[in-house]
Amino acid sequence: MAKQNTILVVDDESSMLRYMETLLELESFRVETAVNGLEAVKRIERGPLPDLVFMDLLMPEMDGLQALERIHKKKPEVKVVMLSCVSDTAKVVQAMRLGAQDYLTKPFEKHELDKVLERCLGTDQANVEPVCEVEELDGGGFFLAATVAMKKIHNEVGLVANVDIPVLILGESGTGKEIVARLIHQRSARKTRPFMKVNCAALPAELLESELFGYEAGAFTGANKAKPGKFELCNKGTLLLDEIGEMPPHLQAKLLHVLQDGEFSRLGSRASVRVDVRVLAATNIDVQQSIANKTFREDLYYRLNAFTLNIPPLRERKAEIPQLLRHMVARMAEDYGRTPLSLSPRFIDACMNAPWPGNVRELGNFLKRFLILGDESVAIKELAAQTASAEAEAAQAAVPANGDLKGMVRNVKDDAEIQAITRALMQTNWNRKKAAEILNISYKAMLYKVRQYGIKPPRNRSLHFVDKD
Ligand SMILES: Nc1ncnc2c1ncn2[C@@H]1O[C@H](COP(=O)(O)OP(=O)(O)OP(=O)(O)O)[C@@H](O)[C@H]1O
Ligand SMILES: [Mg+2]
Repeated sequence: MAKQNTILVVDDESSMLRYMETLLELESFRVETAVNGLEAVKRIERGPLPDLVFMDLLMPEMDGLQALERIHKKKPEVKVVMLSCVSDTAKVVQAMRLGAQDYLTKPFEKHELDKVLERCLGTDQANVEPVCEVEELDGGGFFLAATVAMKKIHNEVGLVANVDIPVLILGESGTGKEIVARLIHQRSARKTRPFMKVNCAALPAELLESELFGYEAGAFTGANKAKPGKFELCNKGTLLLDEIGEMPPHLQAKLLHVLQDGEFSRLGSRASVRVDVRVLAATNIDVQQSIANKTFREDLYYRLNAFTLNIPPLRERKAEIPQLLRHMVARMAEDYGRTPLSLSPRFIDACMNAPWPGNVRELGNFLKRFLILGDESVAIKELAAQTASAEAEAAQAAVPANGDLKGMVRNVKDDAEIQAITRALMQTNWNRKKAAEILNISYKAMLYKVRQYGIKPPRNRSLHFVDKD
């Protein structure tokens, strides 16, 4: 016979305890109750562990948040669902931060309770949501890991944070490379020192050089005053070199020198400056390929990859989507001062089936749009269209390479893409960031495509690319 699941319900209102007991016993759960947080903590410390805990937020003696914190310190594997009231938005968000698995807003209906039970303890074990790990980021944002692969990364972040070596963070655009870099910094002994980021793809070579290494007065026309670069400003801290794969070769040589000796000189100066900066590098390009093409120095690669973290794309960890969505909803609700709404299973399923080429960033943007517009069927239709076109593309890619037909299709697709990109660029006066927004692709994807297709402004236009903000 299957094991009977035990559920602990913690609430100071006896009517609520009775309501839950009745509903849960109907479903053949073994129910235990506690009337405040302290009693719940004691019950859990005594063991055996319940399979699930429903915990009220406001209670005398010890409230739900304190109890959750105590329980998770000792027994992080215990799944806790918060019972909240409409007015408790901020507390719900805090509970999610402390690792609550889910929340139910009182008063709730039986079918809502059933949904939570299915997600936490469901009969279909493959669909039961695992306990997720959530870590807050200083300065806002969070890191969530729910799959084995992401929990491994979370663990590795903890291990590497305090070993003062460079870390190479690889992953597609929007997978969370910057979040991981911030976590490494805030877990390290450098956490009270600056964390800075330089995007190596966003600046032309000369600007990037002065941004990184600074310059002396008179180093070039317009350099009226000396200016320190990020390496100096970030002394004793952590510097994230984003899009490292785009760094021009002569800067790669200079960077290698800093990594080896901790020394460099400002532009226009011979004197060397000593710094103590931990370098983290991130990229979404295939580094091995770039080494083979000779656009990325192999010796620099070996310096940087003392430790490498490979962040998997979202499509390879779709099991994380429901929890990512729930955490994002709770935080967005807090930002917009609304009650966190509970997402329908249809909506969550559609999200789990979508391809998410822009990864977690795209998921977040999509959710934000949905929360603003509030039309679930439109959102689901949008996702279905994306899923269908990704499937069509995959099917096309799977056609055996019988030369011409495949090539022809690819050319047509490329031409259409070039036209759309050029049109958006013209429309935005060649602002690649705005053009990317119009086309609903990431800025990175825009940069990549402009480079891939060699799209340039018309000759009579003496414009430089103006980007980002
Ligand atoms: N594990 C995660 N948990 C919670 N949020 C995440 C996670 N990973 C990414 N995000 C969110 O997704 C967005 C993109 O993350 P981030 O900027 O770190 O990606 P990236 O890999 O650096 O992207 P790019 O290559 O485009 O610079 C951010 O809003 C971030 O908060
Ligand atoms: Mg990034």
